[in-house]
Amino acid sequence: MPKPFAYVNLDLLDANSSAIATAAGNKRIRIASKSIRSVEVLRRIIGSHEVYQGVMCYTAREAAFLLKHGFDDLLIGYPVWDKSEISNLLQAAAANGRIIVFMIDSIQHVEHIEQLAAAIGIEAFVCLDIDMSASYPGLHFGVRRSPITAWAQAKPIVERIIQSKWIRLDGIMGYEAQIAGVADDTKGQFLKNAIIRQLKRKSIREVAMRREEVLEGIKELGVQLRFVNAGGTGSMDSSRLERGVTEITIGSGFYSPTLFDHYEGFRYLPAAGYAVEIVRKPRSDMVTCLGGGYMASGAVGADKAPQPYLPEGLTLLSLEGAGEVQTPLRCPSGVALALGDPIFFRHAKAGELCERFPKLYAISGETIVAEYLTYRGEGECFL
Ligand SMILES: Cc1ncc(COP(=O)(O)O)c(C=O)c1O
Repeated sequence: MPKPFAYVNLDLLDANSSAIATAAGNKRIRIASKSIRSVEVLRRIIGSHEVYQGVMCYTAREAAFLLKHGFDDLLIGYPVWDKSEISNLLQAAAANGRIIVFMIDSIQHVEHIEQLAAAIGIEAFVCLDIDMSASYPGLHFGVRRSPITAWAQAKPIVERIIQSKWIRLDGIMGYEAQIAGVADDTKGQFLKNAIIRQLKRKSIREVAMRREEVLEGIKELGVQLRFVNAGGTGSMDSSRLERGVTEITIGSGFYSPTLFDHYEGFRYLPAAGYAVEIVRKPRSDMVTCLGGGYMASGAVGADKAPQPYLPEGLTLLSLEGAGEVQTPLRCPSGVALALGDPIFFRHAKAGELCERFPKLYAISGETIVAEYLTYRGEGECFL
């Protein structure tokens, strides 16, 4: 087969979908589309179990694209600002009788959407993002997103929404990235793992209390929420225990990229990857492939590099890594590789892989059973 190509192993994807559905307990799962980036894969996961309800998308244009494909209950996980995109989306959702929810964390966000909603006479649904990070002396544990860390800050925003004829508070979200997205079982890092687990335990208690306080305040103001969204792949064990939470957002667990190999509480199966071609041999114990350097986003570090996966035992060279056009690999003895052979890699993150490939070969058993277009393959590039 012409290389490079990307694939999704449907047997492993289905096993992950099923394991995630079980791990959800009695909560619903909202799928984080940024970690999937293929309409057909999204459909397959949603169709696999009734626990899968709604999508967390990542831009307004992506939400409009998913609407066109027939998806409903789309929560845009991050604030958006472009006026024409917001107006177009409001109109498309109303015309199709679908639910779109915009993320907000300030009165400025609320008033911006209110103005656009009022201009076209459509009520807009919003979700209030509550910061779930933890600040300890010398350490910010979590992400920098919403400025709302307590009910006292959320209250004026909720009151402003209640006054508005054009805005409805549909839900709240709190993403505890320090629990959901930080590995705590990294090989050879015994002390660091122990500290992270300790910080996670402390943070889990604080997150639950903060969410509880906000929910209590909202209830006192007489607002009934449709959903309370929490977590990510790495926080299912704690998010599902919170009484107030109605749904958990999951994305990465479905393809299960390498960054999700190092958690104490779970291990999903490596369902997606890509293959590049060996084009030369710089030394008898090395091969060099054409391309392969698809780095993941986030703080720069070796953990963001893709990892050679099959055949087993190959390693990147620390001085070159995975390259734009050439990726040399050290081969273990006993592995015979020829020019033209494929080397399979796994990406460090989930959906970013799909930005590099127009399609995923869908494999079941030993057979390619379908070809699933990625967003890129549909000519789309949202972020
Ligand atoms: C707001 C939000 N919720 C949930 C998630 C969890 O996604 P995943 O399961 O891919 O880690 C993310 C990922 O970054 C996110 O930004």
